Amino acid sequence: MAFQHDAPFVIIGASGDLTYRLLMPAIFRLYQAGKWKSPVVGYSPDNWGNQDFHDHIEHGLKEFVAEYSSQAWARFRPLLSFHRGELTGQDFSALADIIGSGSAVFYLALPPTLFGQAGQALAEAGLNRAPEGFRRLVVEKPFGHNLKTAQELRQALHQGWQEEQIYRIDHFLGKETAQNLLVFRLTNRFLESIWDAEHIRSVQITYAETLGLEGRWRYYDQAGALRDMLQNHLMQLFTLVAMDPPATWAADSLHNHKTEVLRAVRQIPPHRVDRFAVRGQYTQGRIGDRAVPGYREEPHIDDSSTTETFAALKLRVDNWRWHGVPFYLRSGKRLAQDYAEVAIQLKEVPRGLFGQGRENWLVFRMKPDETIDMVMWAKEPGLELNTRRRVLSTPYKREEEMEYSAYEQLLLAVAQGDRTPFPRYDEVEESWRIVDPVLQAWTQGQPEAYEAGGQGPAGQTRLMDEHMAWRRIGETDRDTP
Ligand code: BG6
Repeated sequence: MAFQHDAPFVIIGASGDLTYRLLMPAIFRLYQAGKWKSPVVGYSPDNWGNQDFHDHIEHGLKEFVAEYSSQAWARFRPLLSFHRGELTGQDFSALADIIGSGSAVFYLALPPTLFGQAGQALAEAGLNRAPEGFRRLVVEKPFGHNLKTAQELRQALHQGWQEEQIYRIDHFLGKETAQNLLVFRLTNRFLESIWDAEHIRSVQITYAETLGLEGRWRYYDQAGALRDMLQNHLMQLFTLVAMDPPATWAADSLHNHKTEVLRAVRQIPPHRVDRFAVRGQYTQGRIGDRAVPGYREEPHIDDSSTTETFAALKLRVDNWRWHGVPFYLRSGKRLAQDYAEVAIQLKEVPRGLFGQGRENWLVFRMKPDETIDMVMWAKEPGLELNTRRRVLSTPYKREEEMEYSAYEQLLLAVAQGDRTPFPRYDEVEESWRIVDPVLQAWTQGQPEAYEAGGQGPAGQTRLMDEHMAWRRIGETDRDTP
């Protein structure tokens, strides 16, 4: 693959929060690591010149890049320029002179309601094609608000852009532990032979946050936890666990396999949503020693809001590999701890010669630490044949190792034309198909209240199959004392 990344990188929405907090810090860090050479063109309707743009970005870099140095900034700054314009074909056409006839990337750092309009206007200005090189369009999440609007957005974008030109951001796919999930699974011989319904009893994917709204009320109160976390991020983690191994490491092969497993997820019946999905909303409580308000008491939130701040799903996969294995996905705000993991529960051995309840787990932990843990059983020293739990745990990286943030990984992948870490449209559509009946059912009724700082709504246990339980948020696996 050609390592081509000096093509101009145009950020549409250059004065926004995403550019300030995430994109430019990631680009600057890549630059400092010698991995970024592209000129960056900031585009927005603000009445700015280059100097205003530079000052704004410099301010953000000082705040968000720990390794910021003024020498590096002085070298980096000439790469940045600003162009003022609206999201119209006419205004965009002025960009043609700036970027020339070669390759370029357009990043839509915009509110989601503007993705379609911006993509179409870029195409109208002829920026979707280059006589000498590639043109790529990067679209942030969320891609649609439900199945119907995702289909509409696809239609709007596909009028001017080929699917191969579109890079949809799901920053979880740029996370080290998400990438490692696939690498670990597909590199270690012993795993594939147990990676099925014969050996695996259940899979639990948890992404628990202590954070609340963090000023994002405008977006979050419309979205809720199911759209914000499960439809995209957790569903992607699910596909990495459940997909069949692709024959080659090529984007389309990978996406075909991911789509296939998503298609195998059983439709949640609209009249039985409660058996497959649980929602909750936090009330006031404590995070550590800090008292926090309930969701309905948050600034700008209506005191009758029914937005869910916790969502859990049970998925059934109707294929040979996973017949009968439940997949549990859950995520919530204001929970006991920042705690995230993909936990694979193995079936017990057929005859428990040394006791019952000796479960093995393989856990890919993302928070609080990035580790791979295997829960095993071994003999306890002594005269009896007693067992005790031993956790084989390995940190994902060594202390001194450099880690790239999800945005750094993904920006570089866009620049290199590597489509593997970006969901293809059919994956996105299938994910919406899975959650759509739940979204529809949740337009009625109320989420269950749960106290901030706890484990989430009590009702989540109703998703569990017999003799199963949710793992405790905040309690990593430990050796038997
Ligand atoms: C974002 C969600 O996509 O992911 C946020 O909108 C959430 O609500 C965040 O907090 C979690 O990801 P990370 O990488 O910040 O832990």
